[in-house]
Amino acid sequence: MRKLLTVLGSHPGGRSAMTCRYRCGDACFHEAPNTSGNEYAGDVIARALSRRAVLRAGAVGGTVVAVAGTGACSSGPAGAVSAEEAKTKGKPAKGLRFTPVEPNTDDKVTVPEGYGQNVVIRWGEPILRGAPDFDPEKQTAKAQKGQFGYNNDFLSLLPLKEQEGDEKRQLMVANHEYTDEVLMFAGYDADDPTREQAEIGWAAHGLSVVVVEGEKKSGALKAVPRHRLNRRVTATTPFEVTGPAAGSKWLRTSADPGGRKVLGTLNNCAGGTTPWGTTLHGEENVDQYFANTDEVKDEEHKKRLQRYALKGTDTERKWERFDDRFDVTKEPYEPHRFGWVVELDPYDPDSAPRKRTALGRFKHEAAQPRLTSDGRPVVYMGDDERFEYLYKFVSSKRMRRGDSRADKEHNMTLLDHGTLYVAKLTGDSPEDEIDGSGELPSDDHEFDGKGKWIPLATGDDSHVKGMTAEEVYVFTRIAGDKAGATKMDRPEDVEPSPRTGRVYAALTNNTDRGAAGKAGPDEANPRKGNKHGQVLEFTEKGDDPAARSFSWRLFLVCGDPEDPSTYFGGFPKDQVSPISCPDNVTFDDYGNLWLSTDGNELGSHDGLFGVATAGRRRGEVRQFLTMPNAAETCGPIVQDRRVLVSVQHPGEEDGASVEKPASQWPDGPGEYVRPSVVSVWRKDGGDIGV
Ligand code: FEO
Ligand code: CA
Ligand code: CA
Ligand code: CA
Repeated sequence: MRKLLTVLGSHPGGRSAMTCRYRCGDACFHEAPNTSGNEYAGDVIARALSRRAVLRAGAVGGTVVAVAGTGACSSGPAGAVSAEEAKTKGKPAKGLRFTPVEPNTDDKVTVPEGYGQNVVIRWGEPILRGAPDFDPEKQTAKAQKGQFGYNNDFLSLLPLKEQEGDEKRQLMVANHEYTDEVLMFAGYDADDPTREQAEIGWAAHGLSVVVVEGEKKSGALKAVPRHRLNRRVTATTPFEVTGPAAGSKWLRTSADPGGRKVLGTLNNCAGGTTPWGTTLHGEENVDQYFANTDEVKDEEHKKRLQRYALKGTDTERKWERFDDRFDVTKEPYEPHRFGWVVELDPYDPDSAPRKRTALGRFKHEAAQPRLTSDGRPVVYMGDDERFEYLYKFVSSKRMRRGDSRADKEHNMTLLDHGTLYVAKLTGDSPEDEIDGSGELPSDDHEFDGKGKWIPLATGDDSHVKGMTAEEVYVFTRIAGDKAGATKMDRPEDVEPSPRTGRVYAALTNNTDRGAAGKAGPDEANPRKGNKHGQVLEFTEKGDDPAARSFSWRLFLVCGDPEDPSTYFGGFPKDQVSPISCPDNVTFDDYGNLWLSTDGNELGSHDGLFGVATAGRRRGEVRQFLTMPNAAETCGPIVQDRRVLVSVQHPGEEDGASVEKPASQWPDGPGEYVRPSVVSVWRKDGGDIGV
């Protein structure tokens, strides 16, 4: 089918070529844009490998003690209970007591025995007054502007108690990351899309705010269409630019000479919910919407665009044919107006959403805030591309607890003032023991070490030599290069545990780690050709979220438990669910970490997993659900009685189209495949996992 056939099989990671084409603009197929000489331990691999061989040879005949995670299990003296056996005695951690779902490739959402599910809302369902019912043969941009968008990703549920009897209602906010035109439009011609199709695409991007209502006797959730708080934000909704780079010359265009008003948001991946009642949304793979980087004459400008992965001539969706702002030869700075964290007040459908420049510009996966002991928000952020960095923002302003108008207005400025940091991690084991195999180092049997938060800018003050503060915010990746940040294996969601304060970062994968000319393994990214990813756990110094340093360890090194390079927090590996490509992160009320996956490389569909982070069961990964064909699990929310997930890009398989669907989910044969939100609950009305 058209040109995508030519790239079949050439895409690393478990995603299909079509996913790469539409979601990330073939990001994984192209060179990673971080070509900075900001090297970390890369070129010592060959040397290390030979020395390691010597070390191993030397160990023969010595005391070889098997350690958890190396794949070799010691069997203790007969009759004695080994440390591993002791860990598995009794029940799994509270909250994770369900029968794990087996890896599978079924074209449905598979949930544990005794659990039920329902589709909460599908792409195209009307949510605003006046919006028509979904009719795939008669789609219009006008209709889509009032309907639930495409490829739902991040989800947030906020309390809603407007009046008596509303206890069962909550406000759901959803991201719509991107569109799969070939699955949306019958007979779609990728070489010659129509203006209407482009405009439907604009309207199907963005965010939705929808009131949802729980059913009395189950955990089923349904959308309340036409509620006054329901809202659509799209690729053309007016946004305000705020913070220290607002009005910067780098943000000015012919349509917005002041650099403070942007139309729309794009590629909203994951996000966060603030303690002051707003939601945050990361603009991720925005490079793919901008055409003609190859034609840019100004070499400096071109280099900056390329550092943000912009490339080539025409784009996949060809929006540049319908709006000049998507052509960088016509509007050179329009791309700078995307790649931000967006803040939305979902309780005020008339408010302008904001782009928060103080949080920097990169491929923002998500943004989950926490508060310091004196009430200042701290936001952790991953830049999701191979060899990119981990960031944090520390506000200089304290949140107000009241809900007066003045309090609300104050809290809407918290993310405009503070310091942006980038992370540098160092390992504590001998460098030559980090040989890319994933074998735990012999000195302390752990991938761990220390980290520093390097300040990049505070308000209008730059901490990076040769860059103004505005430049640091608009070209944050370049600031990270100069600061010597650690190149990570695709940092995705980063969230603090509300129970322990420890922070968890999903590092999805990086098949280029250790490749020729690329950064080699380091203790935080210890595997060459890393297909399955890892989960980093870190603790801020003094448990202070604003600290300038931290200690870290790898909590999970993902993959097949039988693969010796995997590690599950020291838990016996034969007792865990296999997990590959962790992406989104959330917590349940018991402090268990929940991980959704994107691009499972183990032959199963993607899924949602729970894992205990503390106690005897620490590291026990248990799979809660799996996805339909080719879908990614996103936006997980785990409440006492309900788990909510986004089923993103079902049926997004190479060669698939409306005429030749690769999935029949959710509505069966003959119906359009539709990204949707699913609620899962216990059929007996009990709490999840207890
Ligand atoms: Fe949109 Fe980083 O996944
Ligand atoms: Ca994601
Ligand atoms: Ca170590
Ligand atoms: Ca992802």
